[in-house]
Amino acid sequence: MKILAFESSCDETAVAVVEDGRTVLSDAIASQADMHALYGGVVPEIASRKHVEAIAALMEQALKDANCTRADIDAVAVTYAPGLIGAVLVGLSFAKSVAFAWDVPLIPVHHVRGHIAANYLAFPDLEPPFLALAISGGNTLIMDVKGYTELQVLGATRDDAAGECFDKAARVLGLPYPGGAPMDALAQQSQGGVYKLPHVHVEGAELDMSFSGLKTAVVNLAHHAEQVGEPLNRAALARDFAQAVSDALVPRAMQAASLAGRKVLVAAGGVAANSVIRGDLERACERQGYRLYLPPLKLCGDNGAMIGAQGYYEYLAGHTAGMNLNAYATRDIAVG
Ligand code: KG4
Repeated sequence: MKILAFESSCDETAVAVVEDGRTVLSDAIASQADMHALYGGVVPEIASRKHVEAIAALMEQALKDANCTRADIDAVAVTYAPGLIGAVLVGLSFAKSVAFAWDVPLIPVHHVRGHIAANYLAFPDLEPPFLALAISGGNTLIMDVKGYTELQVLGATRDDAAGECFDKAARVLGLPYPGGAPMDALAQQSQGGVYKLPHVHVEGAELDMSFSGLKTAVVNLAHHAEQVGEPLNRAALARDFAQAVSDALVPRAMQAASLAGRKVLVAAGGVAANSVIRGDLERACERQGYRLYLPPLKLCGDNGAMIGAQGYYEYLAGHTAGMNLNAYATRDIAVG
């Protein structure tokens, strides 16, 4: 079954063709990151307009790269939530039109389910159940993935997402948007252990996280150094910051796996590209004897193929939608 998949929830317009949920036939992406870098973050209105400009040509490219015509496409999958509402609406409206015009099923896909499904593309042997740590610019979730379309949230951030926190901290350190990757590169120049940053703790909810205090601590530290004229060890701060984020995520993911009785752990989302977090996950899983799946870097960020992968399993579960399908800025991943 060949699925044409659309993703437009933030600042990447992406269209892919995926076969049977596991084989990527094409994966066309147009990133707007350079444009938003001028403003230090994503400007929602600009993101929506850029999606409108890019999406039709990207679909043509995805079909051409996959050596397909419209007659080869069996269904259309699309991110319908969560994300910037205007941005999601562009992809959703376009995908609806295509499904209607070509008379094929329309499959709604939750963006974070898509991030997890990126691993199905990289690892043919991976099947649920497993424990998933989904960490991106807009979401931070620890989930028990009981089946392809049956997910239970065990822990979540109470405020900022991990990626958002990386982006804000990077901005304070004078790094360009999106700041996660440059922060990671800077952090690799230091062993850290210089700056004391707060440890995340949510009273009464041991698997939940909060990143806003950590973000504020970095902002205050940098501003204080500037005010008193102290030199800031930027590489050490980047390293200590990444460690603080990792210390919030990795032990909780391990604890959740143990509570859920899972011995397989899967990472997903843009922040899963982080070298400190990847290293910590590898060591923790090795200690516990858990099998760890880390997506290749190019499948960590937003892409269309991951939506095609999850779309296939949503379709098998009977999850298709009519032309009244709406877009949502937030949406419970367990609902789908
Ligand atoms: O998954 P993604 O592309 O978009 C969302 O669905 O949100 O994630 C983007 C986020 C950004 O916040 C970006 O700074 C972060 O992933 N990111 C990283 C790294 N690479 C990207 N964060 C930490 N370390 C990285 N190496």
